[in-house]
Amino acid sequence: MRLTHETLLHRTFVSWLFLILIATSCGQASVQVPRPKPVQVAPTPGNTLRSFAQARGFYIGTTANVGALQKEQQYRNILAAEFNMMTPEVSMKFDATEPEQGHYTFTNGDTLVAFAKVHSMQVRGHNLVWYLALPSWLKTGHFTREELMTILHAHILAEVSHYRGEINIWDVVNEAINNDGSLRASIWSRVIGPNFLDLAFRWAHEANPQARLFYNDYGAEGLGQKSDAVYHMVAGMMKRGVPINGVGLQMHVSVVEYPPPQDVLANIRRLTAMGLEVQITEMDVKIQNDHRPVQERLAAEAQIYRDMLSTCLAVARCTAFVMWGFTDRHSWIPGATGHPDAPLIYDAGYQPKPAYFALLNVLKQ
Ligand code: G3I
Repeated sequence: MRLTHETLLHRTFVSWLFLILIATSCGQASVQVPRPKPVQVAPTPGNTLRSFAQARGFYIGTTANVGALQKEQQYRNILAAEFNMMTPEVSMKFDATEPEQGHYTFTNGDTLVAFAKVHSMQVRGHNLVWYLALPSWLKTGHFTREELMTILHAHILAEVSHYRGEINIWDVVNEAINNDGSLRASIWSRVIGPNFLDLAFRWAHEANPQARLFYNDYGAEGLGQKSDAVYHMVAGMMKRGVPINGVGLQMHVSVVEYPPPQDVLANIRRLTAMGLEVQITEMDVKIQNDHRPVQERLAAEAQIYRDMLSTCLAVARCTAFVMWGFTDRHSWIPGATGHPDAPLIYDAGYQPKPAYFALLNVLKQ
């Protein structure tokens, strides 16, 4: 159903009004609401992020929240219309898929994969090995090295095999490097040792030899201690013949703290020069930690989205640009920081923001 311009204007005004009421009533008007501006024409089926990305053979994606998918028609409509890639936000993590030892639950992941299949979307499996989102039986088990290797091997085989033929990209290991470049202390590094990464990639390859296997991290998008450590770590893995295919650059940034695009370009180039694929895997742009008028912050946010997408598109082997959500209504950030925020490309009322149009204009070029 095509919305008239007037209806869109009215809806925008109502949703901003709603935001004012919420912000003032709960006394947290830390994100001042601007006067409603004439809304740009909403995207039409042919004029979408997805349609222009597909014309380039490129993937534009978002994390997907199974609760919102099941409860909100607008969420489903936009997810299917605007994106050709999705990453389950929590449904494929260790705690969600093996809540008890040896007992696997894939229901929520299957729901997302089924939606993706109907709408011809690629799914990024996320994630097999992480220091967080671990079930209590694993955290409190006091397993020996051999026992933990058996547990991890079984977990990876079970999950990757379950999704074989449906998921061909996996974040095998997530966030194993500290900001200073050292190996993060975790149950995996402490009990199995530093070679847990090699083992995890080998086991994922054993379960699905066709899958493209990624190392995924934050804070390693540009140039510096952590990105150098990731670069050398994955180079070492390749030298040892470990089946690694790509690196995911998460890109959780803010309008006051983000890597210079030229550094991101240099980093992507050196990773792809090694024969790896690169994907932007979890982008969002916080605006809460800045005190400029919100219109200026939304414009700055749009510029950062524009710059990072352009940077990825400048390198052939940068194959996907995935955001960690698409509507401010379902961002993880307010829950994590305790402050309202507007880090994504649609507002809480599902209206496209300047960042949406910034991405659309880049993809249209
Ligand atoms: O589903 C339960 C619910 O039943 C329970 O009542 C509630 C309160 O305990 O918790 C709910 O689970 C939460 C889950 O999100 C679903 O909402 C977990 O506690 C919470 O820890 C989990 O947070 C997720 C976090 O990863 C840990 O898995 C965030 O939504 C998700 O955005 C975040 O995503 C990570 C990426 O995987 C890796 N990169 C960083 C990124 C942001 O932290």
